[in-house]
Amino acid sequence: MNIRDKLFFCIFSVSIVCIVASMAISYVVFTRSNGIENQQKIRNKTKAITTALNYAVSKENLTQDNIKAKLENKIKEIADINNQNIEVYSLQGQYLFSNQEKKGNEKKRIPPYNLKNLEKTDINIKSTDPVSKRKYICSFILLRNNVFEPIAIVHYDSSIGKNIYWETFYQYEREILVGILCIIIICFISSRIIANGLTRRLNDIAKTIKETDITNKDFKHIKYYKDNELGTLINAYNSMITQIEDQKEQISYREKNEAWKEMAKQVAHEVKNPLTPMRLLVQNFERKFDVKDPNIETKVKQLTTSLVDQIDAISSVATAFSEYTKLPEKKDQKLNIHQETKDIIRLWNDQKEISLHSNKGNIIINMDKSYFTRIMNNLLKNAIQAKDDNRKLSIKVSLEQIHHKVNIRVEDNGIGIPENRINRIFEPNFTSKNSGMGLGLTMVKKLIEEYKGEISVTSEEGIGTTFLIQLPMGNIS
Ligand SMILES: Nc1ncnc2c1ncn2[C@@H]1O[C@H](COP(=O)(O)OP(=O)(O)O)[C@@H](O)[C@H]1O
Ligand SMILES: [Mg+2]
Repeated sequence: MNIRDKLFFCIFSVSIVCIVASMAISYVVFTRSNGIENQQKIRNKTKAITTALNYAVSKENLTQDNIKAKLENKIKEIADINNQNIEVYSLQGQYLFSNQEKKGNEKKRIPPYNLKNLEKTDINIKSTDPVSKRKYICSFILLRNNVFEPIAIVHYDSSIGKNIYWETFYQYEREILVGILCIIIICFISSRIIANGLTRRLNDIAKTIKETDITNKDFKHIKYYKDNELGTLINAYNSMITQIEDQKEQISYREKNEAWKEMAKQVAHEVKNPLTPMRLLVQNFERKFDVKDPNIETKVKQLTTSLVDQIDAISSVATAFSEYTKLPEKKDQKLNIHQETKDIIRLWNDQKEISLHSNKGNIIINMDKSYFTRIMNNLLKNAIQAKDDNRKLSIKVSLEQIHHKVNIRVEDNGIGIPENRINRIFEPNFTSKNSGMGLGLTMVKKLIEEYKGEISVTSEEGIGTTFLIQLPMGNIS
């Protein structure tokens, strides 16, 4: 069971328990108060009958023998007024008469235990009718004549109609049930909403965390301003992300520093490299110098050619380094990159190995022309240098304008880049070539990023390499 269902189940079951408890409590309270009220009703009825009997008895001289003759009509009258069946028994418990005629087995004796306490007080006891099996409360009153001799026992059924009691309760429960059904529906809906709301936030957070790629620059902070447990969790996550960002920045600063140091060493090395042969050459020349030598002119020529070559090598190192370290100030202009690419390719296309495809005749972007030229020159030069000796070189350049972006692809069928190197090719000073400075792609990346573009590479060893540049078109209106 997931958290959402658990939450929903909890809220819903608590609501149900509350409802059932409230019904039970109302049942208990109802039953209790009804019991008290019934007792009061029984007392009132007994009082009314006793008063009426006492009045009737006070008018006559009654004895145990003449009671039926003298009191029967009066009893009928009292029974009528009180809407109550009344039976009269002898002191020994024998049936004498009642307001209704009774047949055979209805004229029963009163069980003797009922009579014991009658001297002192009236008796109301719960009893079961032997014929109809109906439960009822039977009441007994000891009847005395006007000189206070006991003469008979009066018996009647004083129970209050149970049906009325239950009907009232059912009516009450029926009405309350409608209300409770509404509450259950509200509980059901609100518990679903609360559970969904809570878990939706959790799912959002999980999604953001999943999308966060710490190898990327793209960190997302989660916006949540409420001060609760979720807020604490999100704050912890956000501060963790800030820490990672800080650390990445520190690492990248350190890496850059390292790279610069490496490059300084490399430049020094590249400059020193030609100096040693130059020194040897000059020393050698001095040692063997002979003015009379008939070939002296040729020898001087050879020396100067070698020296100029080495000087050129040093100069090219210096040029590459200075090109990398300072970008010229960019002068944005409307550039038809389709036309520009055609012109650049023409310079490199010795054996017609480079083809160009474009999804539009003119693709105009806002960019410095020298930037674009340097980017394309570097990519094409690399592609040509990557030629695989086993097959004819083929380079495909494609331009594609999609909405406000252009995709530039340079695809070759060269030697490819091994997997363990591909992540390092944009680093300054990374090269696999003897003559390379490893600055070309570093500069290309820098130039592209100046225009808020991106460059990515895919490569397969022995098959070829594809560079993809995505550039925004910029403000060309
Ligand atoms: N098209 C390509 N095919 C294969 N390897 C490539 C390609 N382009 C670049 N590389 C690899 O990336 C490295 C860095 O390239 P770059 O920065 O231009 O420096 P350089 O060309 O001076 O070596 C190259 O040495 C090479 O190993
Ligand atoms: Mg290069």
